[in-house]
Amino acid sequence: LRGTAIVDPAFVVGPVRRNTFGSFVEHLGRCVYTGIHDPHHPTANADGFRQDVIDLVRELGVSTVRYPGGNFVSAYRWQDGIGAVEDRPHRLDLAWHSTESNTVGLDEFMRWCEVAGVEPMMAVNLGTAGVLDAVDVLEYTNVPGGTALSDQRRANGAEAPYRITMWCLGNEMDGPWQTGHKTAHEYGRLAAEAARAMRQVDPHLTLVACGSSGRDLPTFGSWEHTVLTEAYDQVDLISAHAYYHEADGDLPSFLASAVDMDRFIEEVVATADAVRAAGKHDKRISISFDEWNVWYIDRAESQPPSGDDWPIAPVLLEDRYSVADAVVVGNLLMSLLRHTDRVHAASLAQLVNVIAPIMTEPGGRVWRQTTFHPFALTSRHARGEVLQVVVRAPSTETAKHGDAPVLDVVATHDTETGELVLFAVNRALDAELTLDVDVRGFGDLRVIEAVSMASTDHDLPGEERWFATAEDDTSVLPTANGSAAVSGGRASAVLPPVSWSMLRLA
Ligand code: AHR
Repeated sequence: LRGTAIVDPAFVVGPVRRNTFGSFVEHLGRCVYTGIHDPHHPTANADGFRQDVIDLVRELGVSTVRYPGGNFVSAYRWQDGIGAVEDRPHRLDLAWHSTESNTVGLDEFMRWCEVAGVEPMMAVNLGTAGVLDAVDVLEYTNVPGGTALSDQRRANGAEAPYRITMWCLGNEMDGPWQTGHKTAHEYGRLAAEAARAMRQVDPHLTLVACGSSGRDLPTFGSWEHTVLTEAYDQVDLISAHAYYHEADGDLPSFLASAVDMDRFIEEVVATADAVRAAGKHDKRISISFDEWNVWYIDRAESQPPSGDDWPIAPVLLEDRYSVADAVVVGNLLMSLLRHTDRVHAASLAQLVNVIAPIMTEPGGRVWRQTTFHPFALTSRHARGEVLQVVVRAPSTETAKHGDAPVLDVVATHDTETGELVLFAVNRALDAELTLDVDVRGFGDLRVIEAVSMASTDHDLPGEERWFATAEDDTSVLPTANGSAAVSGGRASAVLPPVSWSMLRLA
């Protein structure tokens, strides 16, 4: 196979935004407890947070971390998680049929953000709580002092306000599974009023309204339209959530997941702009893609406990990822970057143990999943501006997404260092693809690094592949791609079947 592309420094989509490289910590399964927090671990700090996990969070290159949920937040009482730990109540977590011990709460999380070098993105409970609760938590976090809640924060050890700027107005309120689920109209009104009151407390906020929890939901499109019609002036961003997995052995559709994400983003943008036109608004609403990943949602480990069983931190959603999964994760991140003009924030869901790039053993080791690598490499090397790329390549028919090109390419250009980075995916199952990119507009370039992650076992049934590539098997790491070259203003490389690659040129 052969695919060509043209890229030129003059054709800029927008800046590479650090907020595209966000992630997500929810009180779910072992994400918090025995994930980021494990007081008995040899590397635990005074708050009980694992330093070895923090080291990998830094290596992953995460910018923002969304917290405390997710579905969890929709019945969460944030006040349970402040003050003396021994006085904090145990509560039922309705979302995940677990018991929440409240050992970790807002102040601990903020201290974790500080040591992990990440910015918090907080979610308020608009499921079972409402405007008052949203205003209260904001008073606790952002008001310097002199009021009941801000003074309570100071008494709890945080003299200076946290000044958290990014806030999600609830979570997945379109989903019938959500505690306190609402119609678009009900939610739009509530989001508008919560936002208005929150801005009275602090005008310097970036507020995210809930969009759709999936492009395949029956309310997709009309939900965004109604919510934004109600809340356009009060909010800054609308969220989008998408999870993909290989179903029924249909690898071609799975590998084309980024085609679906492209459409999702473009349809939300079109809807937001339609509301803008009809409402004669000046500002544009962009997207916070604040949950995205590969998630094998049908696996037994994704099903919460039931009956009288309400465990603390059970094993939930602990997917093990193959190289094909990593190729898709790398490609989804390319889709987000390609839309950097309208995707202003994103969160890989989630960070530790729960559908996560980082896994831990309680009291034991920490390890990187396959999906860690394309995220970390993209976060480290995508700098400067995202450029338009015109790609020509053969397509294949997929059952889920129709015609999908076998090649996808995204380019970033750092005008300060002159570095051009090409991220490329070959979706073909059994053919190498020779990539040939016209880079004449950049002057003299040479290859400074070229790596590929290629799936070699995608012929195996899904479950075997899953175990064959688990943990730290070195065959699943990115490896140098020796075929990369630049000559006569053209960059080229041979991309193995089912692969994700990064070519750094300068
Ligand atoms: O990330 C796992 C869950 O997926 C989140 O709690 C929820 O928001 C989404 O449905």
